[in-house]
Amino acid sequence: MRERVIRVAAPAKVNLHLGVGQLRSDGYHSLATVYHALALMDELELSVADGPSSVSMTGHGSDLGAVPTGDDNLVLRAAHLLAEHVGRDLPVHITLSKRIPVAGGLAGGSSDAAAALVGVERLYELGISRAELLELAGRLGSDVPFCLLGGTAVGSGRGELVESVPTAGEYGWVMVTDPVGLSTPAVYAEFDRLHADDAKPEPEPEPVVPHTLLEALRRGDPHQLGACLRNDLQPAALSLRPELAEVLAAGRAGTREVPGALGALVSGSGPTLVFLGADPRHVGQLARHLRGVVQGSGGRRVLIARSPVQGAHRQPVLPAAEPVPEPTR
Ligand code: C5P
Repeated sequence: MRERVIRVAAPAKVNLHLGVGQLRSDGYHSLATVYHALALMDELELSVADGPSSVSMTGHGSDLGAVPTGDDNLVLRAAHLLAEHVGRDLPVHITLSKRIPVAGGLAGGSSDAAAALVGVERLYELGISRAELLELAGRLGSDVPFCLLGGTAVGSGRGELVESVPTAGEYGWVMVTDPVGLSTPAVYAEFDRLHADDAKPEPEPEPVVPHTLLEALRRGDPHQLGACLRNDLQPAALSLRPELAEVLAAGRAGTREVPGALGALVSGSGPTLVFLGADPRHVGQLARHLRGVVQGSGGRRVLIARSPVQGAHRQPVLPAAEPVPEPTR
């Protein structure tokens, strides 16, 4: 029998390397990136709807206003795309619980879209292959295929072509969020503006992922990984939000008692900042240090997450609570 409710977890991502090439004729930049999924997750609950598809939201108050709930919501676009693909209506109601900061450079919206593809496919038992889902995901956004795949993957093209890479071990991250998101197109436009400046070299036409980063991941060495982190969009994000540089510097420096982060960078197009810790104890120390740094600076939050985790995936639906039976004598 068809299940009535499906729950799907949607993980955030960070780009461990974001090599940005030149602007292509289709308006996108060619990328060479390494995506990595974090245990910071939104959650979708999907059920068959009687009327047209709809989405409702719960989560962090200040963030939610920025998310559209109409047909331009990426979750509904994913549901409509799947319906178009199979050639019939798939009415669905989706409750979206947001934990990933909105417009934060962590692919929250893309991951919700990937989770919607997984959820609607299961809810209607469509029998769609993984390869088909990945292709549909690419049409929804450059980051959506990775959000389906999860783990760690090299991304090429405009980011939509993904290939898993082997990694060892687990990593621990501190994230500093910002209450005001950055628009991805605006950050890419700033990247173009900075590179139009004669003093800056032209971006590579075909950027590449450095071998040392893949080696660090294969060995599971957080120190080597920390030294390899790089984001070509960082100068553009910092140009739009100069105040982020101070927080990055404070996390890198640490204090007399707390060693600095092994690596620190803007996540994707920002403005979320990520800091790599050496081990769980160091992650806790760094989080407390950074909480002190951003205290009183208005709505910034400090979160911690481990990685890598699997991509958008089904969660068990917990049964409704039942009363505890009386003990029998
Ligand atoms: O693919 P997605 O819809 O997430 O991209 C959002 C915007 O980000 C694009 O419209 C484009 O302005 C910019 N972008 C880019 N190059 C990429 C990915 C995104 O310029 N590789």
